[in-house]
Amino acid sequence: MEMETLKEEIRSRADIVDIIGRVVKLQKAGASHKGLCPFHQEKTPSFHVDSRKQSYYCFGCQSGGDVFNFVMEYEHVDFMGAMERLAQQTGVPFELDGNAGGPKGPKKDRLYAIHEQVTAWYEQILHENAIGEIARKYVEKRQLTDEIVRDFRVGYSPDSFDALLERLRHAEFTDEEIEASGLVGVREEARDGERFYDRFRGRLMFPIRDELSRVIGFSGRVLDPAQSKAKYVNSPETLLFKKSRVLYGIDRARASISAKRQALLCEGQLDVIRCHESGLDHAVAAQGTAITEEHARVLKRYADEVILLLDADAAGVKAALRSAEALLQCGLVLRVASVPEGEDPDSLVIRKGPKALQKVVRDALPFIEFQVGALLQKEPEINETSRMRVIRAVVETIGLAPEAAHREELIQQAANCLGVRPDALRGDVRPVQAAGHKPPSQLRPPSPAPKRAVRPQADRLPQREELLIEVLCQHPELISACKTHLRAEHMVHPDSRAILEALYGMEGSAESDLQDVFREHPQRTRVQELRMRNPNRVLSEAVPPPQALEQLVLLLREDALKRKQDELQLRHAHGSEEIRSELESDIWQLTMVVRKLRECRMSNDWAAATTILEMFP
Ligand code: CTP
Ligand code: MN
Repeated sequence: MEMETLKEEIRSRADIVDIIGRVVKLQKAGASHKGLCPFHQEKTPSFHVDSRKQSYYCFGCQSGGDVFNFVMEYEHVDFMGAMERLAQQTGVPFELDGNAGGPKGPKKDRLYAIHEQVTAWYEQILHENAIGEIARKYVEKRQLTDEIVRDFRVGYSPDSFDALLERLRHAEFTDEEIEASGLVGVREEARDGERFYDRFRGRLMFPIRDELSRVIGFSGRVLDPAQSKAKYVNSPETLLFKKSRVLYGIDRARASISAKRQALLCEGQLDVIRCHESGLDHAVAAQGTAITEEHARVLKRYADEVILLLDADAAGVKAALRSAEALLQCGLVLRVASVPEGEDPDSLVIRKGPKALQKVVRDALPFIEFQVGALLQKEPEINETSRMRVIRAVVETIGLAPEAAHREELIQQAANCLGVRPDALRGDVRPVQAAGHKPPSQLRPPSPAPKRAVRPQADRLPQREELLIEVLCQHPELISACKTHLRAEHMVHPDSRAILEALYGMEGSAESDLQDVFREHPQRTRVQELRMRNPNRVLSEAVPPPQALEQLVLLLREDALKRKQDELQLRHAHGSEEIRSELESDIWQLTMVVRKLRECRMSNDWAAATTILEMFP
């Protein structure tokens, strides 16, 4: 389905009162519904859901929008994620044309199906099949409980070059689909005609799942290190599997990360599993690669803070320093938990028990403190030069944080552990918000679910401009009439201009077009608030909206002309003789126009007014 069609299909089926009603207890209050806001803590309901406008708005924390916005905010997902969830809830098949790697390429759904079947098959071999015996022994040796093995759907891939391939063909997947799944390798020269071979052979298989628990790839660990040089073999990049953004364990950890507003980032699959087993159920891991900006953004949706839980070796320290960059840049608070020398989280639990690991996590150091320690340790000698090297590195790190208040906090920390005055560092910190860095508005706003701070109220717009926007947002069908006679530049406040420009740029004039235009717009909150206001506050019953709009347009145009007049007066006062006489006639003309317009407005003569307006654009 085409994106637009799919969106409309979902919109038409997802009733906002129904969708929100599933997670927020709503009570009918007049034409709308009311409940306790899920985005901030409150005792009396200020969260409104309007079924006619298919929108919600909270007068307490100013969050608001349509059903897509609600899911984005509530589930901490982006727009596509919201579409996907709503498609699921409303039974619309989520399939986009652009989804399938080219017009004729394999469909994502088929690849999900392959992964699901293969996962179940690997599981079955591990648990029931005779050839799984060797893997069962291994699992026992590594002290993985049956419960956790089943929860993470660990399996075993038979030691064969074509068992999987045959199986998939038998299940009537096409060669194209099998190849696209990444579960087979392709032979360069196929002598006997068989191009494919099973990628994973004789390995303990860890399915990698996305946020919706769908298997999108695998990581396979060799049982006997003597058998292969590669301890782990991973799925290649496929339509489903994007290394730079997958986080192992995210489906199991998501709720906990969101509740704690904290994520625990480990190095490997077994560490994640061990953490979950030890009650640290907010643990995830990247696929043995550095943390990318995309990983950071995924985490930022759910968490305010990330704790890096790393192996005690030099590689672990290096990985921490490297990963920090993307995480800090994303505005996340960062700490580092170090397991004792020679251990990794998995081995620590085995040797010392879950409490020991929990303590390591509790004792995590603020990143700056960790960095100073790690860098000083690398220096063979502590002297002026080496100290300066460390200070420079730390100052550079601090510059990565996008928020000034966060940088200040980090400066204090750095000053403390380096034994210098904060002032000495502050001057050297260069914020690197420049090119490439996404402004925070593109990320999820810092909004912890239950304890979110109430957003500061944006400054008020000039009253008439606000009224105009209110009328237009509540009656989008009037926008085109307004556009003919009032331009964005006629507004004083830059926010009013921005809103008006967006309104004028709308594709159509339906409620849903309005929602689309403002979904990611900086003025979204304000617009939502204006939309949800009681219409009778602005428009008395006696004045129908089209007339009210005419009045407002005239008032605003009068205001704009008067400002022009003031400006000319000012120039007149300071101008030379020549300029003055020239200006005088302009000023006089303006005075006449303003007077005329006022007369038209008073006598409700819109036709005459528009003739005048057309002469003075
Ligand atoms: N990794 C990988 N390819 C390798 C080695 C490691 O992709 N050849 C990734 C895996 O995701 C692995 C993680 O890096 O889980 C951490 O590697 P390592 O610390 O070597 O493995 P452990 O997680 O400790 O696994 P085990 O305890 O089974 O040795
Ligand atoms: Mn290990």
